[in-house]
Amino acid sequence: MRNLLDNLEKYSVSVSKEINSFLSNISPDNLKEASIYLTKSGGKMLRPALAIISCEALGGSERNVIKTAAAIELIHTFSLIHDDIMDDDDVRRGRPSVHKVWDDNIAILAGDTLFSKAFELISFAKDDIDSVEHIHQAISTVADACVKICEGQAADICFEKNFKVKEEDYLEMIFKKTGALIAAATKSGAIMAGANQDEINIFYEYGKFIGLAFQIQDDYLDLVADEEKLGKPVGSDIVEGKMTIIIVHALENGNSEDRERLIDILKNGNSKEDVRLAMDILNKYGSLSYASDLAQKYVFDAKKLLDVLEDTHHKQSLISIADFVINREK
Ligand code: IPE
Ligand code: IPE
Ligand code: MG
Ligand code: MG
Ligand code: MG
Repeated sequence: MRNLLDNLEKYSVSVSKEINSFLSNISPDNLKEASIYLTKSGGKMLRPALAIISCEALGGSERNVIKTAAAIELIHTFSLIHDDIMDDDDVRRGRPSVHKVWDDNIAILAGDTLFSKAFELISFAKDDIDSVEHIHQAISTVADACVKICEGQAADICFEKNFKVKEEDYLEMIFKKTGALIAAATKSGAIMAGANQDEINIFYEYGKFIGLAFQIQDDYLDLVADEEKLGKPVGSDIVEGKMTIIIVHALENGNSEDRERLIDILKNGNSKEDVRLAMDILNKYGSLSYASDLAQKYVFDAKKLLDVLEDTHHKQSLISIADFVINREK
C-alpha cells in the first residue's frame, strides 16, 4: 500500500501545481485562503490519479487530461468542505475543517468558488487536446457527477435516523454521493484520450464499482480506523445516526432487543462509549465482515472489467488502485 500511495503522490505533484496556479487570484483574502486550505492539506489525490492513469491506459498523455484531473480534485474538495458542514465534522485531513477555521458562510463560499473554478479549468484544456468536443464531453460528465453528488448527499441526510432504509437504497445513495465522481474521473480520462464509446463505458463502469467499494470502506474505516491515521473523527457516522451498510445490515439481521439498543444509540449516542456499545452489536451480527465482503465483490467486478485491456503497467496500476480502495487505512 505504501507503494501505491507513493505512486499517487507522483501524480499529485503535477495536479497540485495546476491547482495552485489556478487558485491564486481569488479575493478577498479570507475566501482565497479558505478555498486553498484543503488543497494543501494532503489528500490522497485518488480521483485525479485515476483520470490520468485512465487517459494513459487508452493511449492519451498526462497533458491531455491534467486540467480535467485537477478540476475533478477541486470538485472533490468542494464536496468535502460542504460535507463537513452537513455532517458537523470538525476535523478533516488531520486539521480543523474549513467551517471551523473560518465559519459556515465562508466555507459555503469557498466550496462554491472551487466548484466554479473546476468548470473554468476544464474549459481551458483546449490547447492540450486534439478535439474541443472532448471538452464538451468532459464538462457534461463532471456536471452530471455534481448533480449526482447533490442527490446522493440529500439522500444521505434524509436517511439519517431513518431505520427503514434498505441495502438497495443505501447502494443508490453511495453511488451518487461518491461513486459518480470517481466514475467521472475514469470516464473523463478515457474521453480525453479520444477513446471509443465502448472503452469510455468500460472505464465508467470500472470507476463506478471501485467508487461503491470506496464508500463502503469509508463507512468501515469510520468505525475501525486509527483516528490519527484517518485524519477525521472515528465514530462520527454513529453519532450522526448515518445509515451506513454496516448499520443497515445489523438492523435487518438483529433481534428486536439489539435493534432497539442500536436505534437508541443512533438517536441519542454521542460518546466513544456509545460507539463501542454499537460496535458490540455490529460485531455480533457480522455486519462489519458483511460490508468487507461486499466491498471485495465490487473490487472483483471492477478488475474483471479490465480483462479486455492489454497487459501494460497502466492496467496494473488500475488493478492496484482497485485493491488499494479496500486495503487502505485512510
Ligand atoms: C473522502 O474521500 C470522502 C468520500 C467520498 C468518502 P477521500 O478518502 O478520497 O478523501 P481525501 O481526498 O483522501 O482526503
Ligand atoms: C462523503 O461521505 C461523500 C462526499 C463528500 C460527497 P462521508 O460523509 O462519509 O465522507 P467523510 O467520511 O466525511 O469523508
Ligand atoms: Mg462526512
Ligand atoms: Mg457525509
Ligand atoms: Mg465517511
